[in-house]
Amino acid sequence: MIISGTELAKEIKQDVAKRVAEYKVEYGREPHLVVILVGENPASVSYVTGKAKDSAEVGFKNTTIRKPDTISEAELIELIGQLNEDRSVDGILVQLPLPKHISEEKVIEAINKEKDVDGFHPLNVASLWQKLPCLLPCTPKGIIKLLDKAGVEIAGKKAVVIGRSNIVGLPVAKLLLDRNATVTIAHSRTQNLAEVTRQADILVVAIGRAKFVTADMVGEGAAVIDVGVNRDPESGKLCGDVDFEACKDKASVITPVPGGVGPMTRACLMENTIECYLNNIKK
Ligand code: GUN
Repeated sequence: MIISGTELAKEIKQDVAKRVAEYKVEYGREPHLVVILVGENPASVSYVTGKAKDSAEVGFKNTTIRKPDTISEAELIELIGQLNEDRSVDGILVQLPLPKHISEEKVIEAINKEKDVDGFHPLNVASLWQKLPCLLPCTPKGIIKLLDKAGVEIAGKKAVVIGRSNIVGLPVAKLLLDRNATVTIAHSRTQNLAEVTRQADILVVAIGRAKFVTADMVGEGAAVIDVGVNRDPESGKLCGDVDFEACKDKASVITPVPGGVGPMTRACLMENTIECYLNNIKK
């Protein structure tokens, strides 16, 4: 079974749009998401465009601020400071990666925790790991929703996450653990990786290498979640971290690329923006 992220994301966005229409009547304005893009990285441009498109679809106000990659760290932090102060701004997202002369840590830390729609601020991350209320990072949140939608049991299952990034690998491992899976975090240096991944009931792959996961790495009946967005070196087409064609018959459920995790990340961003908006408006 192929799990369509596009379809589930559409359902979530319809629900968000309905809530936005109600909130506009109740509170007099729509949620406002500000997205900052530094430079011209084509992948980042495309992600930011997608976020603006989804914002329009659900009825948010979206402001995309584009800055040249010559902007200094201090200037970017100053801009974030102004947006933090602006009561009409509910959510702030700085598209990553940033140019090398800008510290991503400092920039993320500059965003007001209450407006951190990505859930990347250290205080949000700390709350996540301490099981306190927090904004959940969008991709991990989307992955759990996909598994639930597909009817995949998480509690008591063996989950293997390939990848240990702050954005996906670590937080998705934590969310799976909180749902009572037994979680192994593997990576490019894991010894006998195929032996480890074959044991997985749930395999989440976020390593950023085209078709990294081959059929011999997937156990019969596993749920396979592919977070990768890569270019296939042969065809030049978009492809995931999982060799989809080779693995799809072994998996019980599998996400496609494109149309799997990607749209869910954006749908969860819409939900997080609502959360920030409600906190902001009720202050
Ligand atoms: N770059 C890749 N994924 C993300 C994301 O989820 N948020 C931001 N801000 N940048 C990213």
